[in-house]
Amino acid sequence: MTYQALNLQPGDAPFRADPAKSYTLPARFYHDPEIFALEKDAIFYKSWWYAGHVSQVAEAGAFLTTRIHEQNIFVARTRQGDLRAFYNVCPHRGHKLVEGTGRKNIITCPYHAWAFDFDGTLKSARNTENMEGFNRDEFALKPVQVEVFCGLVMVNLDPDATSFAEQTGDLEKEIRHYMPQVDDLAFAQRDTYDVKSNWKVMIDNFLECYHCHTAHKDFVDLVDMNSYRVRTNGLYSSQCSDAVKSTESKAFNFEQGDVEFSYAGWFVWPNFTIWVYPGEPNLSVLQMNPAEPERCIEYQDWFVPNGEVTPQLKDAIDYQIDVLQPEDIGLCESVQEGLKSSGYNQGRFVVDKGRTELSEHAVHHFQKLVAEALGARLDPG
Ligand code: FES
Ligand SMILES: [Fe+2]
Repeated sequence: MTYQALNLQPGDAPFRADPAKSYTLPARFYHDPEIFALEKDAIFYKSWWYAGHVSQVAEAGAFLTTRIHEQNIFVARTRQGDLRAFYNVCPHRGHKLVEGTGRKNIITCPYHAWAFDFDGTLKSARNTENMEGFNRDEFALKPVQVEVFCGLVMVNLDPDATSFAEQTGDLEKEIRHYMPQVDDLAFAQRDTYDVKSNWKVMIDNFLECYHCHTAHKDFVDLVDMNSYRVRTNGLYSSQCSDAVKSTESKAFNFEQGDVEFSYAGWFVWPNFTIWVYPGEPNLSVLQMNPAEPERCIEYQDWFVPNGEVTPQLKDAIDYQIDVLQPEDIGLCESVQEGLKSSGYNQGRFVVDKGRTELSEHAVHHFQKLVAEALGARLDPG
């Protein structure tokens, strides 16, 4: 049965396929607990999810963990050198197997010490040799799809999902254009932000630079806005500025690198973004983790050569932590309050024909993916 709130309600304006003719998603999509719950199955339990970086699981026995709503997952490197992912739950009585990141010889459950190899097989289970008909094969760990993409470890709970690389088409080519050294990067640090907004408010905000001139004065000073273009392409969209700007900034070093650009960023369905700053090789992932209908935990993971942050990259990271993120978080928390206001339900996407840096078509592109995934019927035709 369809949840009625997914359909057009009295008082709603239509959400249309054409961004220039469409109103934004109704406000309830950003705070209704039922819609938040529906998103789990409709979006997160069947889409590719960023879990970490391949440098964190380079050696045999190395593992990393991630959590997709209630689903704890771990990714580990086997003795044979393969990367495997499993539900992070013991098949005995359900205890969690591993925490955080690290390296082990064998995975031993902290509860009753059942031990598993990195291929998921149950190696030992104390006292079960004294049981009749106990079959260890029945209690192997439950696998999850895993794939490495430009150094990013991606997992998918849907066993039938097609590969991430296939789903994202030209994305890899685009990333490698701006970051040719992407395979040489290693995990450096994770910055965490606890934001009082729905995860989609944060994504909407990332997807347009219409707010840059008013909210990020420093950003428009650093980035060449004339060449800034926003493009949508299947399950991702990009925002790239292909010219350099003369600036005194230490955070943006235009002297280095073979490719001329002043910013490159991608949104990847459903909930993460990829950033490349000019200067020394770097790439970062900003992931919006839905914690509650009106709360989102953001992780920004930074990858640099050898995992060592140089002074120039530290300036770029500090700029993000001290300037850009606080500016965006303030905007999103205010919008979240506004979405609960009785004086607001929907706005319009400001979209121009040239799809310029001021155009909000990528916000519509994302909201359309959300509406389609949820099976929402919001256009009366
Ligand atoms: S729950 Fe893991 S060994 Fe019992
Ligand atoms: Fe912003």
